[in-house]
Amino acid sequence: MSMLTRRRLLSRAALSATAGATGCDAGTDPDTDPTGGSGGNLRFPTGFGWGAATSAYQIEGAAKEDGRGESVWDTFSRTPGRTRNGDTGDVAADHYHRYADDLDLMRDLGLRSYRFSISWPRIQPDGTGTPNQRGLDFYRRLVDGLHERGISPMATLFHWDLPQTLQDAGGWENRDTAYRFAEYAEAVFHGLGDRIPAWLTINEPKTVVQNGYLYGHHAPGFQDPQAAYLVAHHLQLAHGLAVRALRATGSAARIGPALNLHPCYPADDSAEAARASRLYDGYENRLYLDSILKGSYPADVLADLGADSRIARGIVDGDLEIISSPVDLLAVQYYTPYYVTPTGGTVTRWPTSQADWQQIYPNGMYDILTRVTRDYGPLPLTVTENGLPQADTLSADGTVDDTGRIDFLREHMAAAHRAVSDGVPLESYHVWSLLDNFEWAEGYDQRWGLVYVDYPTQRRVLKRSAHWYREVIRANGL
Ligand code: FCB
Repeated sequence: MSMLTRRRLLSRAALSATAGATGCDAGTDPDTDPTGGSGGNLRFPTGFGWGAATSAYQIEGAAKEDGRGESVWDTFSRTPGRTRNGDTGDVAADHYHRYADDLDLMRDLGLRSYRFSISWPRIQPDGTGTPNQRGLDFYRRLVDGLHERGISPMATLFHWDLPQTLQDAGGWENRDTAYRFAEYAEAVFHGLGDRIPAWLTINEPKTVVQNGYLYGHHAPGFQDPQAAYLVAHHLQLAHGLAVRALRATGSAARIGPALNLHPCYPADDSAEAARASRLYDGYENRLYLDSILKGSYPADVLADLGADSRIARGIVDGDLEIISSPVDLLAVQYYTPYYVTPTGGTVTRWPTSQADWQQIYPNGMYDILTRVTRDYGPLPLTVTENGLPQADTLSADGTVDDTGRIDFLREHMAAAHRAVSDGVPLESYHVWSLLDNFEWAEGYDQRWGLVYVDYPTQRRVLKRSAHWYREVIRANGL
């Protein structure tokens, strides 16, 4: 595997194209203070949903238990050279067996919301047909445990672990997969819907498109731009069909998409940089936001892809109506901004984290939250991912000193608070992640958790950031 990590590559991506369009509308770009100057005594609205997030393949392990089928990530991670050190999610944080202790950790932290994902191959081992009761039972126990501890469950239906059987039938390139997803969603709604108040459909469709189909650094590991954007369409079709499936059950639960959004800024003052940044924003943000929230794909992106592209030919009459079925909330995942050059490349403006694709720019949180509210609102927002990887170590006295993570979270939360003060209807904020876990192609190298996982023993240790976060939650602010 190339040592270039996914978003670095990703940022070289959609860049070929520089045509059309006017400047990026993602907000301001303070030159001097990346935090936007927030800080101090900041209280969040009463009842604010302080949370943490995980996903099934990254924490559960138990890859062969209770009837679970294979997913594309089993195949991908077991293929030599695909992940760092050949790491897989076979064991991960062993959460499948340790969920009760992990629930107690969440209670001890004072979490009010927990965002997790449901593993499709646990529910439908072959991606279709009668649901596997043992799979449903695991999530039922998890969700009951959350309620018993006063924590509100937020469930993601798809966090990248497509059943391998469906991949063998064409995966997301195959339109039929969207309909299989709707059936799976319906099975989950019937099995668990009475106890889950908030659903997210597809986690970061863009990451599947870019890392899975443009660069090949994620499952299924292809490098095929034509396929990539057809996949983008089918993922969004799947989203819309799942929204409709939930409504058809008569449920009062809420549902929405989970999108990783990147504020895009021109790298210099030229008109060319403004144009390139606008198109970059189209590929990063509007391709998903406009379709789901406005019912149309952005014209500049479609024109750039070409009338002959597989996506253009794959859009069937009525698809956009399905894709734009009304949602109840928008889940925003923010990690990094992009600075776009006149030729459509990107440059790095701020210090990066252990993940070299991540520039630390808290003000981007403010910009993206205010931008979606301005352009697509009013719509309830939740931040479902934000966090920082570090090479955390367990010291001899049993502590993990991750002050860098505390600084990162404090500044991003302050930026979110500023957005709330300016009228953004933000309801909750989930740190990525509750636990150290399997970070996809990076394996176990990057630790993103509030809670340290000692993988040889699976012992959990609250990092300094976890203790700090408990106080934030207790104070409902910073
Ligand atoms: C997001 C993913 C999540 C995790 C974080 C670091 O793109 O949704 O699973 O990998 O990045």
